[in-house]
Amino acid sequence: MKQLFFDNKNNYESIDCWVNDNHITRLFVVCGNTFKHLTGISNKIYELEDKGIEIIFFSDYSPNPIYESVVNGVDLFKKSHADGIIAIGGGSAMDVAKCIKIYSSMVKTPFMAIPTTAGTGSESTKFAVYYKDGVKQGLTDERCIPDAVLFDPGALKALPMYQRKATMCDALCHGIESFWSVNSTDESRKYSALAIKEILKNMDGYLNNTDEGNEGMLKASNIAGQAINIAQTTAGHAMCYKITSLFGISHGHAAMLCDRVLFPEMLKKTDKCIDVRGEDYLKTLFDEISNAFGVEKIEDAVRNFDVIFEKLELDIPVASDWELNELACSVNAERLKNHPLKLNEDDLRELYKQILKVERI
Ligand SMILES: [Fe+2]
Repeated sequence: MKQLFFDNKNNYESIDCWVNDNHITRLFVVCGNTFKHLTGISNKIYELEDKGIEIIFFSDYSPNPIYESVVNGVDLFKKSHADGIIAIGGGSAMDVAKCIKIYSSMVKTPFMAIPTTAGTGSESTKFAVYYKDGVKQGLTDERCIPDAVLFDPGALKALPMYQRKATMCDALCHGIESFWSVNSTDESRKYSALAIKEILKNMDGYLNNTDEGNEGMLKASNIAGQAINIAQTTAGHAMCYKITSLFGISHGHAAMLCDRVLFPEMLKKTDKCIDVRGEDYLKTLFDEISNAFGVEKIEDAVRNFDVIFEKLELDIPVASDWELNELACSVNAERLKNHPLKLNEDDLRELYKQILKVERI
């Protein structure tokens, strides 16, 4: 399936076109509390209602959505007999809408995504995440990928600075991890390289909240999403989930903390390569990555990555000995398999010591 991408140059007219083309009469809108502040989009949705389209809102979910929310969403979706879905929000809105579409067995229902953060790239991936009894569950299904995406830079205008930084870090980590993933393909690496170039190009404008920067970062994070859709993420993401839950920091912030340590490690330990394409292949990747960073040597790309982290002034949490052990034994084994270097529990513990500040008693 080829996704349709719309730029918002026409005051949300593309939503009208999408609704008309798909003959939608009852629209299921998955959105968070920020919806009412997104005046452009919300006015358009109410306008559709005035034109006789029935609108069914579903907002009963939290960040890191739980299984019960998905069940409630599926229930409401079925009862409403909706014939179209729009997800408006960040990664959680996308996750919930994807789960509703799949678990209600309505996989042919037209589905539009309007991302309001530039980070997850979830609007173009086959992955959705929810939590059941506190345990992270994943859904992987091509049929949950939205068939249309609207890039609306205006939706990013009110994004708080910390979220702005953390989501950009997430996109950058998707770019770099998909690059070196054992699942990478020629196609995915093209996306990875382009995502990194576009993130670097748009970073200043995005951090200064310009329309151009916001639009550029929305598209860059989407391209990074297309890269992980093929290659998936690696050790940085496998290691960051527990940091997020232990220290209450954002996903992208935690991923950045991990990748700034994993990146230089990658250069030093190519002899531990487990990618079937071999150690030499891994080394050739370094040229491709350097190129994406616009530098000649991979060491300079590593330095630039670190400079970005320093510039963002993100905190480094302090971990106790107990927390280090907790972290080392809770790494997502599935994702770790995508990492090109072999990492055992001792390696992970040592890495966490570099990633975090170690508490001194
Ligand atoms: Fe991520």
